[in-house]
Amino acid sequence: CGIVGYIGLNDAKEILLRGLEKLEYRGYDSAGIAVSNAGGVSLFKSKGRIADLRDIVDESTEAQTGIGHTRWATHGVPNVTNAHPHQDASNRFTLVHNGVIENYDKLRREELADVQLVSDTDTEIIVQLIAKFVFGGLTTEEAFAKTLRMLHGSYAIAMLDEEEPDTIFVAKNKSPLLVGLGEEFNVVASDAMAMFQVTDQFVELHDGEMVIVTRENVRIRTLNGETISREPYKAELDATDIEKGTYPHYMLKEIDEQPAVLRKIIQAYQNEDGELHVDRETLDAINGADRIYIIAAGTSYHAGLVGKEYFEKFAGVPTEVHISSEFGYHMPLLSDKPLFVFISQSGETADSRQVLVRIKELGHPSLTVTNVAGSTLSRESDHTVLLHAGPEIAVASTKAYTAQIAVLGILAALASEAKGKTIGFDLIQELGIAANAAQTMVDRKEEMEGLSFDFLELSRNAFFIGRGLDYHVSLEGALKLKEISYIQAEGFAGGELKHGTIALIEEGTPVFALATQEAVSPNIRGNVKEVGARGAKSCIISMEGIQEEGDRIVIPAVHPMLAPLVSVIPLQLISYYAALHRGCDVDKPRNLAKSVTVE
Ligand code: G6P
Repeated sequence: CGIVGYIGLNDAKEILLRGLEKLEYRGYDSAGIAVSNAGGVSLFKSKGRIADLRDIVDESTEAQTGIGHTRWATHGVPNVTNAHPHQDASNRFTLVHNGVIENYDKLRREELADVQLVSDTDTEIIVQLIAKFVFGGLTTEEAFAKTLRMLHGSYAIAMLDEEEPDTIFVAKNKSPLLVGLGEEFNVVASDAMAMFQVTDQFVELHDGEMVIVTRENVRIRTLNGETISREPYKAELDATDIEKGTYPHYMLKEIDEQPAVLRKIIQAYQNEDGELHVDRETLDAINGADRIYIIAAGTSYHAGLVGKEYFEKFAGVPTEVHISSEFGYHMPLLSDKPLFVFISQSGETADSRQVLVRIKELGHPSLTVTNVAGSTLSRESDHTVLLHAGPEIAVASTKAYTAQIAVLGILAALASEAKGKTIGFDLIQELGIAANAAQTMVDRKEEMEGLSFDFLELSRNAFFIGRGLDYHVSLEGALKLKEISYIQAEGFAGGELKHGTIALIEEGTPVFALATQEAVSPNIRGNVKEVGARGAKSCIISMEGIQEEGDRIVIPAVHPMLAPLVSVIPLQLISYYAALHRGCDVDKPRNLAKSVTVE
């Protein structure tokens, strides 16, 4: 979910709507804004996208203060009633919330038994509690703090009080929230991108803090009343990066940006002598570990699987890769000197962040590989390495995946060099070759569109197989296809297919087989024959030098360890066109959110 707030002299509703449009990647099943002026609070909520909300906002409402929310449902179905903002029974207080209140049911039973609740959300509990305490005699600020002290779980909150129209009450715990500063206005946002249109000066908030925001002042305090002073920082974003330009979809733009991103990464990690470089402390952290634990979710997890190969083969450090939501509550036996490497495009994924909190409590070191400088995971871990991929807006991750793989390769190669070893090839040169190969593949869009049509037009399912590095890419290929086209797609290790999954192969079932790794190429080709004998229609993706007749896609020759940077591109494009032909919303697939800030 995403939150915005504005208090100043301009039209609040327009600034809030624009901010929410920038936050839509955090959820888009319902949205709402509340604006307040001397006449009271006006509330507008709708199911669906920000565009739907825009349609119902009364143009004539003039107000210079307001809050807004775009939702990814946790408690309660996406509908107008459950959409934020929520109000107390008297409608005096209006509140937006991102996060999950774990003890909401207990609070409802124990504190609000006599209040008629209107929604199914945990959020309504917060606003009803605040109202109860105010009507019981506390000031709004006292009631706000008292309520926050009773909440267990995660929250980013912004609240309006009809009786204090010149103030926004703000709080944060475990969910991201920033306050932005301006001349005669201040703003609140889940992400700097949302308010970059009006300011680049932001103050970060820490867990357990609340803020009293007025037009002229921002007062941060703890829940116990101690005042905190904190300097603002300047958010660095290129506004043109967040526009789609002439592309029909962000996803296509981001697929296309991959060669440039790879070149940018090579540049960003080169020193004046043209050699790859990462700061000494980060390399020491890698080399000081007896085992690396990679923690990630979704596509970042798939990049982590490739990263493991690099840490083990280049740097010689044993590495495990874990899904963050599993790891936190089901920790394996740890080694003596672990290093935790968090991979996260957004740096905000709550599942990964809860692992970071736990391992910090245990005293273990951490390194975050992220696209967003200043993100929660980056701020809270010991070391950060940036992806330099530019903002990724499409929910389906593409350029962040390839950037993660490239950066992990650089890290592992430098860790090896720091130990006086060599990886046996010139990484800068090979990354350059991979960038060119990536360019060749993004230029083959028409061909990929044709293949997508041939293989997937009528399919209800599809399989992706590979061995070794190719297996990791097949998992990502399957995820791409299922998340945007809703075709059921699964990635499998080629050899494992015959132990069960082959039962699903029928006449015409599409199977995408990756064959870029010479050592296992004969084996995967054997697997293709096995599925072919049972009716499957196979598309082999191989590499120049080891291709065979009949391979449908042959990527240019690159170093085999870097093949994932290139072989994933046809899979991204095939998924893109499959979704497009099915009329799916490519950039905002149903039920998903780009950045999931709840566990
Ligand atoms: C969400 C997105 C995925 C993404 C995952 C991890 O589920 O829909 O595309 O891979 O979160 O996000 P992160 O920002 O941590 O890489």
